[in-house]
Amino acid sequence: MGSTDGYEMMDVYKIKGGNHLSGAIRVDGGKNSAVALIPASILANSVVEIEGLPDISDVLMLKKILEEIGGEVTFKDGKMIIDPTCMVNTPLPSGNVKKLRASYYLMGAMLGRFKHAVIGLPGGCFLGGRPIDQHIKGFKALGAQVMTNEQEIVYLRADELHGAKICLDVVSVGATINIMLAAVLAKGQTVIENAAREPEIVDVASLLIKMGAKIKGAGTNSISIDGVEKLDGTKHTVMPDRIEAGTFMIMAAAVGDGITIDNVIPSHMEALIAKLREMGVQVQEGKDSIFIPKSKNLKAIDIETSVYPGFATDLQQPFSVLMTQAEGSSTITDTIYSERFKHIDELCHMNASCRMEGGKAIITGSTLLTAASVVASDLRAGAALVIAGLLAEGETEIREIHHIERGYSKIIEKLQGLGADIHKDRQLV
Ligand code: EPU
Repeated sequence: MGSTDGYEMMDVYKIKGGNHLSGAIRVDGGKNSAVALIPASILANSVVEIEGLPDISDVLMLKKILEEIGGEVTFKDGKMIIDPTCMVNTPLPSGNVKKLRASYYLMGAMLGRFKHAVIGLPGGCFLGGRPIDQHIKGFKALGAQVMTNEQEIVYLRADELHGAKICLDVVSVGATINIMLAAVLAKGQTVIENAAREPEIVDVASLLIKMGAKIKGAGTNSISIDGVEKLDGTKHTVMPDRIEAGTFMIMAAAVGDGITIDNVIPSHMEALIAKLREMGVQVQEGKDSIFIPKSKNLKAIDIETSVYPGFATDLQQPFSVLMTQAEGSSTITDTIYSERFKHIDELCHMNASCRMEGGKAIITGSTLLTAASVVASDLRAGAALVIAGLLAEGETEIREIHHIERGYSKIIEKLQGLGADIHKDRQLV
């Protein structure tokens, strides 16, 4: 947003719904992997190259943060080259760290390298409470002293990090990766029990292993890490974004006339594929692509999100839009983020029949959605509204699109490639 004479300039998406979308759409590298791989480079003693990164604001923000601490970083055509040798232990109490959730990975990486870090608590999407107590529990078990002050700045310091057995109280992607980052250069063996099993954890472990780390069990609920003296630079390609892929699959089921989604690992998508099939959507799996033909006669279903390999919380908001096109009442329960339902009111503005009851979203269809001016309250809510706009009669306007651009690379161009009538506009508000 910028200011002109008391008014604010704001970027919005404008979508004219109803176009028949077809063709192929390519998935970029995974956001939630990228935002951990980039901080992991801090741990290396020479250049790290990461390819296939998505062109999203979270990645650009992390580049800036690495530069703030003295890293030499270039980013072009999805390839980031990071020279961490001149990085210094710069305090990061505010500023860019507040602009994304994943800045919490700087805690593990800087603690691992410098044994000392000062980092402001992270920002990111509001999805209800998002504590980091399990990250801190892990750092303390490794020998760090951790203090958070009233300004929400976390101070971490250790004379020496030593391996420990850590059993997470809550299965957490962020805590699992952060503890790995802090433990790879610690003395002795660390074991993380009740670890998260998401593919992003395997991707980060794979980068660290190429750097020389000794990690076993990533992708299972017990990960062991034998600390090493040093980590070297390496090259790595980020895994495909399974949430972007899932968003496109849901969009294809909702508005597609036959869409191929390229650069997907189908085994990452099993819970979503099962739910789409239960609804009556045909899903044709290729080696690294998925084809979804035009769907018809969608049936209402129930969804409960859970940790991987369960149904991803990040996909329930886009999925709720597909439910508006199914006959009967569908429900969504989010066991990971119980308040991740801010998009429901916006869908109601677009004529969807949906409500919250006892913590569940209840969506009754099928309804013809109609255009409205709506607000993307968070990243996946924004993705849901884009799909709703593609379905709706008339011109939908989506505001607060900076949330969408934190996680979806070149979304306008990609959707235009399928025949969508969508563009970015700048307007005074
Ligand atoms: N939790 C705690 N204590 C902790 C950490 C987590 O109680 O110390 C709770 C959370 O409140 C939540 C659950 O554990 O109820 C799972 O949280 P997790 O730590 O797994 O989430 P996260 O690492 O903060 C990542 C993704 C999210 C995604 C979740 C769940 C990144 C940067 N973010 O968050 O992605 O929803 O895992 O899969 O990797 C998104 O992409 O839109 C997004 C929000």
